[in-house]
Amino acid sequence: MNSSSPVLPQPDRNLGMELVRATEAAAIRSSLWVGKGDKLAADGAAVDAMRLFLGTVDFAGLVVIGEGEKDAAPMLFNGEVVGTGHGPACDIAVDPIDGTSLVANGRQNAISMIAAADRGSMLDASTVFYMNKIVTSSEGREVIDIRQSVARNILALAEAKGKPVSEMRIAVLDRPRHAGLIDEIRATGAGTQLLLDGDVAGGINAARPDSRIDMCIGQGGSPEGVATACAIKALGGVIQTMLLPQNDGERQRGLDAGLDFDRVYDADALVRSDNTYFVATGVTDGGLVRGVRRHGNTVHTESIILRSTSGTIRRISADHRADRWD
Ligand code: FBP
Repeated sequence: MNSSSPVLPQPDRNLGMELVRATEAAAIRSSLWVGKGDKLAADGAAVDAMRLFLGTVDFAGLVVIGEGEKDAAPMLFNGEVVGTGHGPACDIAVDPIDGTSLVANGRQNAISMIAAADRGSMLDASTVFYMNKIVTSSEGREVIDIRQSVARNILALAEAKGKPVSEMRIAVLDRPRHAGLIDEIRATGAGTQLLLDGDVAGGINAARPDSRIDMCIGQGGSPEGVATACAIKALGGVIQTMLLPQNDGERQRGLDAGLDFDRVYDADALVRSDNTYFVATGVTDGGLVRGVRRHGNTVHTESIILRSTSGTIRRISADHRADRWD
């Protein structure tokens, strides 16, 4: 070895490499329900598989953000402890399927995902189900401001990117509540990409520097917002959010939990740790990862693993033996 060779980084454990088995398992099992019209069965299959595989991972994972309360779906519930109990203490945000309706209807862009960070670092926003969000790549830093109009944010980001506004594409969940927002985006000359569901993948696509999506904006789930923040910390993009209680009960529960409805929660406020992981496997085909495919005795999965401390973005392509899964 040449004495002037650069010193290599000290290799350490990448928890994401183990968590990905749980998202793969959830994706494989739920993919049996693609297009069958049964959201609960798809979610249940994903939850059971994810829980089983999380149980093999050497860590003490506390589910800070689980799925379920919003629509009484099967859950990995908040406060549940997963993993062997040996190894690092982590907070985890899980969404065994982000896009259960997409799976039930056989539509694109459903993923299975887990985000992890040091214990005690994730914002517990479980009392307030929705937040306003804006996500961009790193060019949006010091440029976007969620308290400003969408038009101003689009124009400012276009300038920072050196791009004509007419080439900007903005991802928004296709919901009646976003009709005004969609009009405002189009009035700037920018285009929209309307998401049927799944604003985690939408946010990550907006943060990726090589993506066709420039911004993901609008009202979506708070759990998904915290999970997206874990990914953004690894990708180096920008996320800003504001909690949106839907009624007095939620508002009071949020206040009791110490949440602040006037505060802009950025990536550091959503996840205080700089040691974050984000892992996702495609259930159905999407812009982030392809969905589960079966050929003969092979089940193929595609996953992405993001790790903030190294900044590594890994894509994992795996062939599994179908007879062990179906
Ligand atoms: P689930 O499939 O996990 O229920 O969430 C799908 C999703 O589209 C999220 O990506 C998004 O944050 C949220 O639902 C938006 O909520 P709503 O469907 O109530 O508008």
